[in-house]
Amino acid sequence: MISKKMEGALNEQINAELYSSYLYLAMAAHFESKSLDGMARWMSIQADEERGHAMRFYKHVLDRGGRVVLKEIAAPPADWKSPGAVFEAVLEHEKKVTAMIHKLADLAAELKDHAAANMLRWFVDEQVEEEATAAKIVDRFGMLGESKGGLLMLDKELGKRGEK
Ligand code: FEO
Repeated sequence: MISKKMEGALNEQINAELYSSYLYLAMAAHFESKSLDGMARWMSIQADEERGHAMRFYKHVLDRGGRVVLKEIAAPPADWKSPGAVFEAVLEHEKKVTAMIHKLADLAAELKDHAAANMLRWFVDEQVEEEATAAKIVDRFGMLGESKGGLLMLDKELGKRGEK
């Protein structure tokens, strides 16, 4: 049985992951409206992954006899000043999520909740990947500067996400 404290914290994290999904979907729509279809695809896949993250927490709470109580999801922004600024916002957002995951890992240790600690290990590793991927894309934007050709090449490359 999960403790009330961990149940509450994981319900908060379900909300945060669903907000991430909503944020990346807003970014996908933004890119689609700018005809940057590859970046839109990248964001749309990212939005699906975030829903998957929410579902991992959802399953953990329910499997341990806890209750999932869904809360309101905040509205994400709709506009960004440039394509590069969107990915900078992704990196900043993922850093915040990493801090949330680490706080949950601290709570699991404090409560001696081994099951939650084990489940959270996957997220600790996932956040390393998430930040590294976003940082790499931010770097690529830095390299292309104002080049429209470079932007289109990066759009094409990011659009390959999910291809076998
Ligand atoms: Fe669910 Fe992007 O972390």
